[in-house]
Amino acid sequence: MTTATKTHTFATGVNLSESTREKLIAILNARLADTVDLKTQTKHAHWNVKGKQFYQLHLLFDSVASHLDDQADMIAERITALGGIANGTARQAAASSAIPEYDLHAVTGEEHVKALSQRLSKLVNQARAEIDGTDALGDKGTADLFTEIVRDGDKDLWFLEAHLQG
Ligand SMILES: [Fe+2]
Repeated sequence: MTTATKTHTFATGVNLSESTREKLIAILNARLADTVDLKTQTKHAHWNVKGKQFYQLHLLFDSVASHLDDQADMIAERITALGGIANGTARQAAASSAIPEYDLHAVTGEEHVKALSQRLSKLVNQARAEIDGTDALGDKGTADLFTEIVRDGDKDLWFLEAHLQG
């Protein structure tokens, strides 16, 4: 049984064809699933990290999770602005996400930073690919949305990876 809602596009004054909007909505829903999934994984790290760096990593992971939460909202609302239905429940995200399951054995700060860096880089690099893909579909608004996600995501990745580079 699929957890995706039935394909249905609402009429809108946005002057992109229905078939173009359907392609954009499919891309955005795929990235929405990744983002909701990774946000829950980042909260898991925020709750469960242990060790000498506990407090600063606890705060850093919460900051990354809140950025992912904001990005999920931005993606979902782009979907609805294009006349689509945002498939953003936890069950829909788990069924469609391209992000691997979290390292559920991670305990130390380094283990959590590595697990999150790997998964965040996958998400951000996919968003980077969507910039040109959505621009080619004629939607600079969605290309700009992915550009913003890349700029913020690269910064969060830097904040995580700096712990592994010293
Ligand atoms: Fe918290």
